[in-house]
Amino acid sequence: MTEKIHRRGFLAGAGLAGTSLFTAHSYARIVGANERIQLGIIGAGGRGRSVMSSFGRFKDQCEFIHVCDVYEPNINAALKMSRTGAKTTMDYKELLADKDVVAILNATPDHWHANVLLDAVAAGKDAYTEKPFSYSIEQGTKMVKGVRATKQIVQVGMQRRSSEAVRGAKKLVDDGVLGEVVMARAQWFWNRKPMPQKLSLEGKLDWERFQGPAKKRYSLDERRFFHWRNFSDYNGGHMTDQGTHLMDVIQWFCNDGKPARSAVCQGAIYVHKGGDVPDTFSAVFEYPSFLATWTLCYGNSYEDSWKIFLQGKQATMVIDDDGYRVYPEPWKRPDIPPKPIHEYKGGIPTEPHVKNFLDCIKSRQEPNAPVEVGHNAVSAPHLANVALRTQRRAVLNDDGTVARV
Ligand SMILES: NC(=O)c1ccc[n+]([C@@H]2O[C@H](COP(=O)([O-])OP(=O)(O)OC[C@H]3O[C@@H](n4cnc5c(N)ncnc54)[C@H](O)[C@@H]3O)[C@@H](O)[C@H]2O)c1
Repeated sequence: MTEKIHRRGFLAGAGLAGTSLFTAHSYARIVGANERIQLGIIGAGGRGRSVMSSFGRFKDQCEFIHVCDVYEPNINAALKMSRTGAKTTMDYKELLADKDVVAILNATPDHWHANVLLDAVAAGKDAYTEKPFSYSIEQGTKMVKGVRATKQIVQVGMQRRSSEAVRGAKKLVDDGVLGEVVMARAQWFWNRKPMPQKLSLEGKLDWERFQGPAKKRYSLDERRFFHWRNFSDYNGGHMTDQGTHLMDVIQWFCNDGKPARSAVCQGAIYVHKGGDVPDTFSAVFEYPSFLATWTLCYGNSYEDSWKIFLQGKQATMVIDDDGYRVYPEPWKRPDIPPKPIHEYKGGIPTEPHVKNFLDCIKSRQEPNAPVEVGHNAVSAPHLANVALRTQRRAVLNDDGTVARV
């Protein structure tokens, strides 16, 4: 069965008959060693076009030949960034049927991630699929199985996994610089405007295709289209949107990449009234040897944007958009904060992550953020959402199911 799926997928993607293994060697024969990798984008909104421009840094290696979106203005904007004569569609299955497309960029809203990814790998396409990996833990488990039933290369869009800053910080933790980490804290603070009451479309929108697999149906609602992050029909809210990046780093550094055992959470809506996901919350997670907190507030920008604190018995590490700093223990007045003993200055560019994906398409090696990483990273935030909604402690069972106790 596995082989059948793979074989069908491979043939659809490669347009060749009689070959069963998609190896680096066969890949080189298909695209030609010096030819550019032909890409398709599905979901050409803000992030989709930003990642397109990151691919654009490697113009000698790849080009976009097919654009899919359900909103005409975004199709037109992405078309300008594509090869002359690139095709367009509002139906992503049409793009997947294009045998010239070798790999896709999936930057649809989260409720579409699973369908697009699973259909893409079944059609023999490699995929760069945006985070958060899934809409729920249960769905993520199915997605991992579905992808692993094929031989396709899948990179989850978690760019910290390829960044020099975060990889350098991980090495220090692996070398024992922090000692035993007992507390990890993730935070994200922005001062955001409330959702506008009225919004208008600037071109054609296929609203039914936007709603797609969402369980509840609504008549056209521009606020839901432009501000889908504020509605649980389309994603796990800011909890999973930002939490997937930060909890991944904590788990990767301190728990072999494995998710939390349990979560409790409180949250409230103070800014994005009219939505149904909290814009202010604090979750506490239990890991085997440390506790972690994940706090977000979109009503105040103190310490602007994200930070991760890893507090060990010998030192503390702070990671953020400026790089990382390591401070020795103990802290003693008046030298607070103490002088860092390790420091790195630099942000988190997406280009190394995109380059790693392009390299893996050719080599057929595992990319830096494979599906298991994406799945485990978003499991803790999903768990916190369950805890928040049920006002219970949510426990992740060994078989991937969630219990409320
Ligand atoms: N890795 C990162 O740092 C990062 C940053 C921002 C966003 N993201 C992720 O990227 C994804 C997109 O976010 P965004 O901010 O670009 O949102 P967006 O609303 O700007 O873009 C989403 C696009 O998908 C299109 N779309 C919706 N349904 C579609 C369908 N069935 N077929 C084709 N296109 C469809 C929409 O019309 C829109 O153009 C989200 O999953 C988000 O979490 C990742």
